Amino acid sequence: MKDWNPKSWRNFPIKQHPVYPDEEKLEKIESELKSYPPLVFAGEARNLKERFKEASKGRAFLLQGGDCAESFSQFNAVNIRDMFKVIIQMGAILTFAGSCPIIKVGRLAGQFAKPRSSDSEIFNGVELPSYRGDIINGVEFDTQSRVPDPDRMLRAYHQSAATLNLIRAFAQGGLADLNEVHRWNLDFVKNNPFGKKYEELADRITQTLGFMEACGINVQNTPILKETEFYTSHEALLLNYEEQLVRKDSLSDQWYDCSAHMLWIGERTRGLDEAHLEFLRGVKNPLGIKIGPNATKKDILGICDILNPLNEAGRLNFIVRMGSDIIKTNFPKLLKEINPEGREILWSCDPMHGNTMKASSGYKTRAFDRVLSEVKSFFEIHSSEGSYAGGVHLEMTGQDVTECVGGSQAITEAGLSSNYNTQCDPRLNATQAIELAFLIADILKNRQL
Ligand code: PEP
Ligand code: CO
Repeated sequence: MKDWNPKSWRNFPIKQHPVYPDEEKLEKIESELKSYPPLVFAGEARNLKERFKEASKGRAFLLQGGDCAESFSQFNAVNIRDMFKVIIQMGAILTFAGSCPIIKVGRLAGQFAKPRSSDSEIFNGVELPSYRGDIINGVEFDTQSRVPDPDRMLRAYHQSAATLNLIRAFAQGGLADLNEVHRWNLDFVKNNPFGKKYEELADRITQTLGFMEACGINVQNTPILKETEFYTSHEALLLNYEEQLVRKDSLSDQWYDCSAHMLWIGERTRGLDEAHLEFLRGVKNPLGIKIGPNATKKDILGICDILNPLNEAGRLNFIVRMGSDIIKTNFPKLLKEINPEGREILWSCDPMHGNTMKASSGYKTRAFDRVLSEVKSFFEIHSSEGSYAGGVHLEMTGQDVTECVGGSQAITEAGLSSNYNTQCDPRLNATQAIELAFLIADILKNRQL
């Protein structure tokens, strides 16, 4: 990799990055982090890249989801378990409908740093620096909390390690048992006011599991039925942290960012001659890049040239987040220009970040119908342009929060305050997330047919 090293990003202009007042402390913490073990193994990241390759050819589908921002205060086993359960439940629904492997990637075990639309926040006439995620500063609205503190990187590392440890245990230790997962989905259908709509699909899964059992295929003799592959991802925003987790893999002699299996670059930090692209071009993990409504052919090809000069399949995932209306006009135009270029791209749809609005009560929210509509358009546009809709990227939680309006629970703007809990953007709650999976299942099934 020409002229690249884990520190070379420091010679480039950078956006959305904190300035630490105590440089000496920063350096001390950086060298401590550097001495810690990696959180993931390079071989796992390589496997994920292979899975991405399959999804880019329409033979698998990426389900990526989790919190907008993880927090120190809501770190506990119940939250981790419930997030895992919902993703696995959605995975089971989509696997059946799409008749293809679902690649499960959590936005977790490291999703702490946040880009912000403004450098400062004003509240009751007081202006303070914006909150940038628990790995950087505190969400509390006071001067001291908003000062970037390098100690937070250590805490984020340890929280990520503990989260990943539990996720690995769940994935291998029986919480992913397909029969159990399906039982949760049947409970969901039974208790959901729109359940009837999802009954047919759920019944077909029941029959299929019964058929397998009758043929002698069960969890006792087929351990794979109670295990799953589960990968982690986060936005590689805070490069002081990411740099310290870069390791040279002894098997391949290549650099990997071992803070997560997959890293992505946000919509605001994907400038071609900026630090975030420079950093990520040197690590071999599969990478995501957010693509907003104004992305051009030049942006996309420029990113491909820098991050994937060898045009390897599975390396790049463009995560399109245009908004439910704008996607209809802007994305077909973009795809028409990009598809003939022959670049290897896994396209996925983030139907969250282009659909954020302010409720009259002041809460940031998103409407379930708009989220669904953007996913539908994404599939339709790919189908008419002859490429594959390869996945979805969601902000969601396993908890019963009230942050997005709509869905079968008919959450209204007035109802948002009853359990509005997010550290940053509004998330689909567990019910809304599973509902969305049933609805995407329908689309995926038709594609398969
Ligand atoms: C996010 O994924 O939380 C985010 C900030 O996204 P984007 O960069 O697309 O705005
Ligand atoms: Co967000």
